[in-house]
Amino acid sequence: MNAGFLRYLAAKRTVDRRALHPGVASRATAAARRLSERRGPSRAVRVLEVGSGAGGAFPVWLELLAPCPRIEFVATDADSDLLDAGRDAVSRCAVECGLVVAASGTRRVRLEGRNPARRIEVVFRTASVPGEAAAGRFDLLVAQSFWDLLPPGAAIAYARRVLAPDGLFCSTLTFAGETRFEPPHGLDEPILASYHRSMRGDRGGDPRAGDRLVRDFRAAGSGFRVLAEGPSDWRVLPVDRGYPGDERFFLETILGFVAKETGADPALPGPVRREWLTDRRRQLDEARLAYRARQRDLLTERIG
Ligand SMILES: C[S@@+](CC[C@H](N)C(=O)[O-])C[C@H]1O[C@@H](n2cnc3c(N)ncnc32)[C@H](O)[C@@H]1O
Repeated sequence: MNAGFLRYLAAKRTVDRRALHPGVASRATAAARRLSERRGPSRAVRVLEVGSGAGGAFPVWLELLAPCPRIEFVATDADSDLLDAGRDAVSRCAVECGLVVAASGTRRVRLEGRNPARRIEVVFRTASVPGEAAAGRFDLLVAQSFWDLLPPGAAIAYARRVLAPDGLFCSTLTFAGETRFEPPHGLDEPILASYHRSMRGDRGGDPRAGDRLVRDFRAAGSGFRVLAEGPSDWRVLPVDRGYPGDERFFLETILGFVAKETGADPALPGPVRREWLTDRRRQLDEARLAYRARQRDLLTERIG
């Protein structure tokens, strides 16, 4: 983890916020309410977040879980340094949401509401997916900007393993195979094709994950029912000769990802890559660059 990646995760929050699909979010809250009622007042709803990073999605999960009085929330990430930033972000966001930080340790935060019945225990664990996880323990499995980093089939296999028989799976901002920059550039096609290919390569990800997840969970015999799904594209547009928040840095980082990932492609001549990057960076400096990444949100319920 480096400071640049941490700043990128913070910069993407405003982009994330605009992108989330409102219909999926409201269905998720309603489904969490039903689940919490089934569990009853004496049993906390158990939530597992994978790839939690620096806690950027915690406000989203707090909203989703608003109807659940007692929550045990396990935030996990492969990068243990990010979890420290995650703990600070969770405490900050809780206070903004009217909760009180009642106790805080190195890898643990207890949040309480004004109503003493509301209590959220958050623990932070270094863990990789697939890795080890208690079978059938969790009521909800949540992840944001995550499942495209893993190979096809990883999400449903993991959900089957960790979720209780009526558990919920919620994924937001999963990349779905299309990147677009504006204005159009004659070299977009080879550059972006190479960028998407790199997500499979050594990284072992799935640039089609957004749509694949919907298909996998919807398939007959999947053991899940899709409750809601919809587009949640990232869109960044220049405004007033600049970019909102820290979104210029967000775009600069995205161009950095493209530069890094396409640099190792023997099929892409160096001068082609350099020309495209020089032009795109100039457009960014001039606040003329716009960006869209196709993504999808998904909510499903386990049915056995
Ligand atoms: C794009 S970031 C998203 C972070 C956070 N969910 C957000 O939206 O701000 C992806 C995160 O997944 C973590 N990660 C990548 N591969 C992983 C794996 N196999 N298991 C667990 N975490 C992983 C990375 O360390 C990183 O923090």
